[in-house]
Amino acid sequence: MNWPEHFSQGNHLAHTPLAELTTFRIGGPAHVLTLERVEDLDAALAVHPKWVLGKGANILVSDDGCQRPVLRLGRQFSATQWVEEGLLRVGAAHDLALLIGRCCREGWGGLEGLSGVPATVGGALCMNAGTASRWFFDCVERVQVLLPNEGVPVWIERGKTDPVYRSSGFPAGTFFIGCELRLSRGEPEELLATARAMKAAKAASQPLSAASAGCIFKNPSPEMPAGRLVEELGLKGMRLGGAQISEVHGNFIINTGNARASEVAALVRRIRARAQEERGISLAMEIQLWDLDAELFEPQAEDLSW
Ligand code: EPU
Repeated sequence: MNWPEHFSQGNHLAHTPLAELTTFRIGGPAHVLTLERVEDLDAALAVHPKWVLGKGANILVSDDGCQRPVLRLGRQFSATQWVEEGLLRVGAAHDLALLIGRCCREGWGGLEGLSGVPATVGGALCMNAGTASRWFFDCVERVQVLLPNEGVPVWIERGKTDPVYRSSGFPAGTFFIGCELRLSRGEPEELLATARAMKAAKAASQPLSAASAGCIFKNPSPEMPAGRLVEELGLKGMRLGGAQISEVHGNFIINTGNARASEVAALVRRIRARAQEERGISLAMEIQLWDLDAELFEPQAEDLSW
């Protein structure tokens, strides 16, 4: 990979299997640039990275890896700063769990409903990460982005954004740099108790000790969450190679050790085929697919006959 020469001073370049950097523990190699120097951002974007890696929690990467470089934001992009009372500016590389813990301890409420969501702030912005009760954009007042084909980052007011369930609403290729969060005063003990309860509920209903990418599908409706649908279709526990539909939660596919992206894709096709055939429900993917053809995940007739 031909990076500008000065890149190796201060930034970190590696050719790494993405299986090591994703919670699914699946994915071939890619050139990964961890950007530590804010002043090199322009030059980093000039090599046209296709993907930006946050905590690696919501993605499935091709077994062949990624052709184009993958960008990670280093520690310099995780700074926090109080803009005014209750308005906290946070860089995209900041870990969400650490941020929630700090806010709760310091008596600032707003984020505790997202406790247990594995993400960086950039990933949470990109996906509008959330739980059943709270979305990340609920707290966002302004977001700093580099829009595709634009040269200069801009701040955009929340009112001019259009986040929806599990999507920021920004165009594909938007690069998230940071945001400002509107927080409100709360009792640290109460905020921490809420955060702990959220985490405990997740631990009781999700296979958190197994490698996975969280929920695979968006919920088709509040009345029919994907996990319940998969359970009603009798598909929990189905296995293909190293990939298995979780016995614990039907909307999780777990990597039992050596799963390949192609095996996950085959399970996804089977679930989608049955949901469509038996319930007329079209399940939309929640996870991002990196260098994987979306057609691999589209059900075919043979996905009903196994
Ligand atoms: N259910 C089943 N069988 C299952 C799984 C769930 O019957 O195998 C039922 C549950 O009993 C419950 C309903 O389905 O009545 C909803 O299940 P749950 O409370 O687990 O919530 P969910 O809708 O499946 C959503 C988010 C999760 C988030 C939880 C908790 C989506 C796709 N999923 O799950 O987010 O952690 O609420 O807030 O919106 C993620 O996005 O990766 C993710 C895990």
